[in-house]
Amino acid sequence: MATVLVLNGPNLGRLGTREPDVYGAGTLDDLRAVLAEDAPELEVDLRQTDTEGELLGWLYEAADSGAPVILNAGAWTHYSYALRDAVSLVTKAGGTVIEVHLSNPHAREEFRHTSVISAVSTGVIAGFGFESYRMALAFIRRNAR
Ligand code: DQA
Repeated sequence: MATVLVLNGPNLGRLGTREPDVYGAGTLDDLRAVLAEDAPELEVDLRQTDTEGELLGWLYEAADSGAPVILNAGAWTHYSYALRDAVSLVTKAGGTVIEVHLSNPHAREEFRHTSVISAVSTGVIAGFGFESYRMALAFIRRNAR
């Protein structure tokens, strides 16, 4: 079965209790269930880490396997050039990385208006809660494989 990697960065393990007015009341387990239901023909491999090197390793894995990636990099989105380089190595190799955000960073604090990964990502979906991930997965189901 083909695999889609759904990679989540720092603080996203706290979904459900972390600022529910901004990020919603659903947990990562809820998100995993929604995505699995959306794509029963795929293995939706949803992971979360608070360690940047671990996320880089998962992107290398995607570069090697060709698995499409849905990526919510959390705050690393805004300043991690190491993350940008890892996303770039996946997309330059022909892989798919869709940057997603639950909230709309452009409607929030100024530091969130910059994404260092958008320019090297396949596309960006932000501001729709879990729907951001579901739209990314719908794209992958139609186009990426
Ligand atoms: C986020 C937006 C980021 O600015 C923030 O640091 C997050 C979550 C989102 O999904 O809306 O952790 O990526």
